[in-house]
Amino acid sequence: MTQTAEKTDLAQIGVVGLAVMGSNLARNFARNGNTVAVYNRSPEKTRALISEHGDEGTFIPSETVEDFVASLERPRKAIIMVQAGAATDAVINQLTETMDEGDIIIDGGNALFTDTIRREKEVAAKGRHFVGAGISGGEEGALNGPSIMPGGPAESWETLGPILESIAAEVDGTPCVTHIGPDGAGHFVKMVHNGIEYADMQVIGEAYQLLRYGAGMEPAEIAEVFREWNAGDLDSYLIEITAEVLAQKDPETGAPLVDVIVDAAGQKGTGRWTAINGLELGVPITGIAESVFARALSSATAQRAAAQEGQLPSGTITELNVDKAEFVEDVRRALYAAKLIAYSQGFDEIKAGSEEFGWNVDPRDLATIWRGGCIIRAKFLDRIREAYDNNADLSALILDPYFKGELENLIDPWRRVVVAATQLGLPVPVFASSLSYYDSLRAERLPAALIQGQRDFFGAHTFKRVDRDGTFHIEWSGDRSLTEM
Ligand code: 6PG
Repeated sequence: MTQTAEKTDLAQIGVVGLAVMGSNLARNFARNGNTVAVYNRSPEKTRALISEHGDEGTFIPSETVEDFVASLERPRKAIIMVQAGAATDAVINQLTETMDEGDIIIDGGNALFTDTIRREKEVAAKGRHFVGAGISGGEEGALNGPSIMPGGPAESWETLGPILESIAAEVDGTPCVTHIGPDGAGHFVKMVHNGIEYADMQVIGEAYQLLRYGAGMEPAEIAEVFREWNAGDLDSYLIEITAEVLAQKDPETGAPLVDVIVDAAGQKGTGRWTAINGLELGVPITGIAESVFARALSSATAQRAAAQEGQLPSGTITELNVDKAEFVEDVRRALYAAKLIAYSQGFDEIKAGSEEFGWNVDPRDLATIWRGGCIIRAKFLDRIREAYDNNADLSALILDPYFKGELENLIDPWRRVVVAATQLGLPVPVFASSLSYYDSLRAERLPAALIQGQRDFFGAHTFKRVDRDGTFHIEWSGDRSLTEM
């Protein structure tokens, strides 16, 4: 029987926008003992939620924003789950007008963090609180326990915290939600989470490509390999679903499903934002950027077709002269190494963003709340948490003693795999660029010295010396003497 609350009962939380994510989130709140106010612009969705799932808890459905707001307990708390962009702004305006001082508006979509900063200012100017909250875990997570990354004022967290904790995923009794920092911090961190997600998916894709076209294995066999990998260091949601996808047959033709899917990867933009922000902050998030480019290249279908027709030369080495089992293990290690670099770079970006915007984000919090519920959940996050527990000021994740030890075992296989891929002509943009990043980071001297020399030559951009302080220039077109500026 549908339980709708008595008129006098008020809801602890409200959800606006009842597409799949919103309605699953509302059901999750209700299933966990909260009375939930629900509202959708077109009332059919509200009615459908109540008729299909009304018996899962206590809902207060409304067909106008005014009724919805009136059905909330004070301070009112309403989560917006509508399309990012203009639709979100419209709902925020409606709620701000209808709500009172101290009420809390939460944006649970994938908003751009700079929009969140702007919205927070606008809403705060009217005396309401605004919380941009990243929510990860897809439809299933929204229903059964997502990882939640709320930003906004610390004061809102006091009220919101317990209610969000009631629906978040849990790992070892710890809910996968915590206050990330002020204004846009939550959405920023969710953006980088998605950037890491892109890189993680791409390195898995590169491993698959090598096993398929390097080692000549069939998708079903590779699915088994991924299943085995999922029992070790790589244990993660993305490896688990990769095995599922690779094992799947096309219901129509019986062919491996992966062979009938067009190889052009889409994106909604969060990975691209992460790459753009990395460029703006000057943080080399090469793994994330390469995975965004890899999706773009895959989707450049006309250009790819022209390149295939033009038959660009591939080189002559096409045989893989290695033992198959050893190659599979090398690929596993290369995948682990490239994934480690992507996380290390992602955490660098979060640190830089936190410093730039004064958010005080604690990396340990992320390693904790990303262990469950979210798309990048992985056993490996426990190790990341330990790394930051041991040293909260770690200069780079890969410099943690545990990960340094892991890299000892990964580095040679990683190099072998990049060499093999290069010889076979198989694209490995993230495996290869991550290795170059790694070697750049550890190099004693970089060719940047030469670049500085070139800049001084054509533009008198000056340079620093290794042996004393100061700024210098060579009189390139004159007597080539040294001038101290
Ligand atoms: C999550 C996901 C989710 C979504 C993204 C990525 O954390 O639950 O990241 O937010 O899947 O929108 O989608 P694209 O690959 O389309 O950019």
